[in-house]
Amino acid sequence: MKDTVFSGVQPTRNLHIGNYIGALKQWTHIQQQHHCYFCIVDQHAITVPQDPAQLRSRILTMAAIYLAIGIDPKKSILFIQSEVPQHTELGWLLMTIAKMGELERMTQFKDKSRKGGAISAGVGLFGYPVLMAADILLYDTTIVPVGDDQLQHIELTRVLARRFNERFGDTFVVPQPLIQKIGARIMKLQKPEEKMSKSDEAEMNTLFLTDEDDVIRKKIMRAVTDSSAGISYDLESKPAVSNLMIIYHHMTGLNMKEIEKKFTDQGYGDFKKDLAEQIIEHMSPIRKKIKHYLADPAELNKILDAGRDKALAAAEEKMKLVRAKMGLGR
Ligand code: TYM
Repeated sequence: MKDTVFSGVQPTRNLHIGNYIGALKQWTHIQQQHHCYFCIVDQHAITVPQDPAQLRSRILTMAAIYLAIGIDPKKSILFIQSEVPQHTELGWLLMTIAKMGELERMTQFKDKSRKGGAISAGVGLFGYPVLMAADILLYDTTIVPVGDDQLQHIELTRVLARRFNERFGDTFVVPQPLIQKIGARIMKLQKPEEKMSKSDEAEMNTLFLTDEDDVIRKKIMRAVTDSSAGISYDLESKPAVSNLMIIYHHMTGLNMKEIEKKFTDQGYGDFKKDLAEQIIEHMSPIRKKIKHYLADPAELNKILDAGRDKALAAAEEKMKLVRAKMGLGR
């Protein structure tokens, strides 16, 4: 039976190789067999301040990235969250059944609000996981392919779906997360104990999909390695080289044993040099395609219009049921 898949990325800054390996790379495989919605979640992006002009341009860039990595608009529905207002409508309705305590436990909220403290954090940032639950539940999603930092949000989505169903009768499908076996959490190049993140101030930690070849070489050659020598995979004792091996695995398809064998008796320098070239080989066609799609905004807009229309139809059908179950309107 076909699954229904939903996933999304915030159009904030550029995508990095962690987003690509953890989430987007899974999407291109999954779309071959299943019914997929891939969303650009611009209403999530505004939970932290954004420059409006920049946000608009990043939304289009993100659409070009989705297409460049291989999302096929004939197979998948590609759309922008804010163009389907049922997302925020359902977000509000779910807000009435979510609990403060549940949202306070979300580690992403704790991380993002750390600077100013929870008191001065935006209410949107606090309620963010409820909007994410609405994104997913609106389409009767069965599978949500994400990186492991989103697992807690999907667990909350499951809780809210069950709670709604108990209170108002069977309405929502309870979705499952889908995580890469290897690569669900790509770490920073300079600090392999921390997750690679878009908001990192230090450029050298993050490899962006749009980085040019010489930047890729520089970042990989400067990536930290472990104190013990040798290319072997052990997340506990060799976190730095293991992180690089995970990237190598995703660029080449070689498994860990094969990578270890290929680099027996070679040093970190040789390994990193080869890794940089593998990344360039994998990423430079994607970079070219991003430019190609951005050069034709008419085509991009046509794809986004079609995606919006399909998503709108499905979302409105679901919302009719939800409003009726809750007794809203006439
Ligand atoms: P976002 O935009 O922060 O990240 C997009 C996707 O990339 C994954 N990811 C990583 N994977 C591996 N290693 C990393 N270092 C890494 N960093 C990020 C994320 O897990 C994510 O899959 N809340 C979501 C967006 C969202 C969403 C949704 C996702 C909104 N609604 C509904 C799925 C379904 C987010 O902020 O992702």
